Amino acid sequence: MSPEWARRRTFAIISHPDAGKTTLTENILLSAGAIRLAGQVKARGENRRTQSDWMKIERERGISVSASVMTYEYGGLLFNLLDTPGHEDFSEDTYRTLTAADSAIMVLDAAKGVEPRTLKLVEVCRLRDIPILTFINKMDREAMDPSELLDDIQDKLALDAAPMQWPSGSGNRFKGVADLERDEFVVYRRPSADDADPVRSQRVSLSGNEISSILSEAELAELREGAELAREVCPAFNPQSYREGHMTPVYFGSALRQFGVFELLEALKQVAPGPEAQPATGGPAPELTPDGKEVAGFVFKVQANMDPNHRDRVAFMRLCSGTFKRGMKLKTDSGKLLTVSSPIMFFAQDRELADEAFAGDVIGVPNHGALRVGDTLSESGKWRVAGIPNFAPELLRRARLKDPLKAKHLKKALESLAEEGVTQLFRLQVGGDFVVGAVGALQIDVMAERVAAEYNLDVTFEPSPYETARWITGERDKLEALIDRHKTAIAEDIDGALVFMAKNAWEVSYIQEKWPDIEFHRAKERRA
Ligand code: G4P
Repeated sequence: MSPEWARRRTFAIISHPDAGKTTLTENILLSAGAIRLAGQVKARGENRRTQSDWMKIERERGISVSASVMTYEYGGLLFNLLDTPGHEDFSEDTYRTLTAADSAIMVLDAAKGVEPRTLKLVEVCRLRDIPILTFINKMDREAMDPSELLDDIQDKLALDAAPMQWPSGSGNRFKGVADLERDEFVVYRRPSADDADPVRSQRVSLSGNEISSILSEAELAELREGAELAREVCPAFNPQSYREGHMTPVYFGSALRQFGVFELLEALKQVAPGPEAQPATGGPAPELTPDGKEVAGFVFKVQANMDPNHRDRVAFMRLCSGTFKRGMKLKTDSGKLLTVSSPIMFFAQDRELADEAFAGDVIGVPNHGALRVGDTLSESGKWRVAGIPNFAPELLRRARLKDPLKAKHLKKALESLAEEGVTQLFRLQVGGDFVVGAVGALQIDVMAERVAAEYNLDVTFEPSPYETARWITGERDKLEALIDRHKTAIAEDIDGALVFMAKNAWEVSYIQEKWPDIEFHRAKERRA
């Protein structure tokens, strides 16, 4: 029997808003049997939310654990699906969650291809070269040509796209997909309103007689031609290249019509990697291995209680090694000791499992502000996991205090929120103004609210002349020359690292070109 950790597959779904991430998440959970539609009635609108066991925990604890991780079993494996909040919830958490995932599913809207948010999320995946599986969604609507979609992936994301299927039509003419590996056709059937949970699609041989009752001669000829071209022109799927993050296998379907979801579950089961060694310092080895004896993991997200009467926070820890048991004592790398007596476990369907967690799993650790994003927790307290980065902000706001006498107070508030990972903090070298940075607008709102509620400060966050920032490194004399030339654009972050503040992306590339000896970083590890 393989060890528990080897059964874990921890992944995230990334997409541009509206591509269908929520619908796909829901259908993955339904198809894997992790959730049921209440009374087999498909709720609409407000009720049509992804649901699972943790919602109960959420109600009982009064904490909004909003869809942080959902667990299901499929084909003998245990999948942890991490939520990467999108839409207005989009924040650094979205990016950081990807540091806790071992692979990702990229959802594209078949009519739109690669959209801007997808591009950014893939950039983050690339920091660790995590393998990406592609699901082209909404084939039940008019779609771009499949080869155009593959080219889009190749061109915009610089990923080799290996089609695993080839669709027959789209929109009203969508009939299903050819399985390029098996010479079979997966038949699309529009589900009816009173269908129960998703069922596997019927498969028929592409060379038998039955296919002629599904596709017209012209459709079959077109499909054959497309599939042949795909086999000739596109790279064949290479599992190693996928695992190294260079190639993405591409599947087609419709999350809303529950088509292609089982194929995706199968693909994940076949190819998605389990937990691997995590580079770390401080311990007896240069990395934490999933089969290691000592329990160790890192915090990738801290969720504050939205209720101001409770100071509770939940820190989400991704386990990297050892077998965690409820009640265990763990230490942070900065020496804080915590007894994890009431961890929130997300795989509680099976009660017996709920007291233990393994490498690849995520547990929620309630605490009163002791834990920060990027903290490593381990039994010895010696380990420090590398690679939990901050990301270049895309929104920068200047903090302006009504009462200038409270400047020290403001500094403390902003620093502590930055330490928690709510927002980033930069201090301009000239003038000393505080500029807060975020990758999503919600981060700024949450921060403004907390500055007012928890620190009782009257602060406005006004637009700053800067739009983005890059961490800069290089030889000392070269750095000094740049700083001298662009004094007003230089700031320090909370750890004292140098940052170049830019008015826009164009300025970043312009300055980069002018200063080839300086490195401009889009991401920075919290403490190197
Ligand atoms: P997101 O989480 O990526 O933002 O996307 P979400 O699943 O919320 O889907 C966005 C919209 O696209 C929803 O429509 C959803 O029903 C629709 N959608 C998702 N997958 C498919 C698909 O395969 N085919 C088609 N035709 N539509 C799909 P909405 O009208 O915004 O919401 P709702 O009223 O349906 O909930």
